[in-house]
Amino acid sequence: MKIAVLISGRGSNLQALIESSKTIDSSFKVVQVISNNPNALGLEFSKNAGIPYKVIDHLNFKDRESFDTVITKVIESSGAELVCLAGFMRILSSTFIDHWRDRMVNIHPSKLPAFKGLDVHQRVIDSGEKFTGCTVHFVRNEMDTGPIICQSTIPVHKNDDKNTLASRVLKKEHQIYPQAINLLAKGRVTLIEEQVLIDGEIIHPNK
Ligand code: GRF
Repeated sequence: MKIAVLISGRGSNLQALIESSKTIDSSFKVVQVISNNPNALGLEFSKNAGIPYKVIDHLNFKDRESFDTVITKVIESSGAELVCLAGFMRILSSTFIDHWRDRMVNIHPSKLPAFKGLDVHQRVIDSGEKFTGCTVHFVRNEMDTGPIICQSTIPVHKNDDKNTLASRVLKKEHQIYPQAINLLAKGRVTLIEEQVLIDGEIIHPNK
């Protein structure tokens, strides 16, 4: 399965996807990287791997819809069948989200539906929760919602600050994002009435 990855910054999940796509068990290939940020560090990963990349700077567009239309055009001409958001920091229009419905996934650094939105790790620490997680899900109109494909539970340690917690969560993100994409690429994921089935079974996505 050909995938396009949308980034805005560091790109460590992009790099995890690129690395995983080179392994023998992988059924997906990154064919296009798009960044809205010309200075995104993650662009280096696509350069190094020889993957086509494009900077589409939202500042050059008059509105969200025209920005999203160009992104769709680039993805479609790359032949990608799946769009993977990996730290893409722009809110997408509902036209874009509907166009890519069931063909667009996101990784979020919490155990959804808990802690949607930004500044997740500080909020987790402030809440006193003993566990957090990370989640790969199909994208729907409301932010950080959508059927869950894969989810991990990660402990919060007493002396964690948001950086130590973020790095523990990120390590797990780098495992579950490629795993989830590979399941999709192998055709092992189906969606029935917003419920994800893997190999035809409703499974609890926790690992
Ligand atoms: C990750 O924590 C991801 O869950 C969130 O944004 C961050 C992106 O990190 N959506 P990176 O750019 O992949 O390193």
